[in-house]
Amino acid sequence: MKLPLVELHLHIEGTLEPELLFELAARNAVTLPWASLAELRAQYDFTDLQSFLNLYYRALDVLRERIDFTDLTRAYLARARTAGVRHAEIFFDPQAHTSRGVPLHTALAGVRDALDGAVKDWGISTKLIVTFLRDRPAAEALQILREILAGGVPIDGIGLDSAEVGYPPELFTEVFALARAHGLRLVAHAGEEGPPDYVWQALDLLGVERVDHGIRSLEDEALLDRLVRDRIPLTVCPFSNVRLRVIDTLADHPIVRMLDRGLLVCVNSDDPAYFGGYIDDNLAALDTEFGLGPDRLALLARNGIEASFLTLGEKAALAAEVDAWRSLQP
Ligand code: HPA
Ligand code: ZN
Repeated sequence: MKLPLVELHLHIEGTLEPELLFELAARNAVTLPWASLAELRAQYDFTDLQSFLNLYYRALDVLRERIDFTDLTRAYLARARTAGVRHAEIFFDPQAHTSRGVPLHTALAGVRDALDGAVKDWGISTKLIVTFLRDRPAAEALQILREILAGGVPIDGIGLDSAEVGYPPELFTEVFALARAHGLRLVAHAGEEGPPDYVWQALDLLGVERVDHGIRSLEDEALLDRLVRDRIPLTVCPFSNVRLRVIDTLADHPIVRMLDRGLLVCVNSDDPAYFGGYIDDNLAALDTEFGLGPDRLALLARNGIEASFLTLGEKAALAAEVDAWRSLQP
């Protein structure tokens, strides 16, 4: 039996593996700046978030047709299944596609097509969270949100991602207020490269229910008190933190300190095609590095369940499966 996992911080565009990228380039007659898989992989040496984003936005230019978005999402779900993922709340960046001429509906409906078959095909329930690029104007995000609300493709929530420093959450207050008024769930990246003040803003101005990354919250004791008191989840992504140089090495990662501080943290893969592995790889590496053992692995899995937007009944059912897994471990 695999440890049943919930994944809450996963950019679907960040699951684009080099092999599929080359296949889609050939299918869509897109000329790539890289001559081979090896030449593409040689670009995966990032110095910070922006250096990664430059490649991430460049690579997704191969996604052109509705079926491309479906194939991308299906490939993730197939891999997630082998990791033991039972529920995934997936981020999708509409502006990364509309800004290069792909219609909103083409991209969004392509992802939705794959999610609609996810329970049947892989035993994975899903939610779809549209993330807005904070380094583009809030007015553009508002326009796209209005289009989505008026259109026929259902989503479950909104989030905020892309280059963080210089783009504080407060810029998006109106966008999040509109989403809330329509019953959407609210999350935001904050405290990845940006200061703890951005986490406060995400909580108090945007009203987010969950913070993505949030790792720099460790610099602010009052913020930690708030996160612990209100059981605000942080979706932590260890491989991402190391590859984007937020943390020097995995051995320096504060995940255990965060657990010990009483924070509701869970482990996620962020952009697994770029950062060296999927959610199971992240957990296995942490287990090796810190000797987490079955109790803390089960705790991380239970935290993911609690942090999710599943119903209480769904959470209880999955948590019982984690307990069953734990009872089978030494
Ligand atoms: N941070 C911000 N924006 C992103 C990320 C990330 O880790 N991945 C994809 N877009
Ligand atoms: Zn992210």
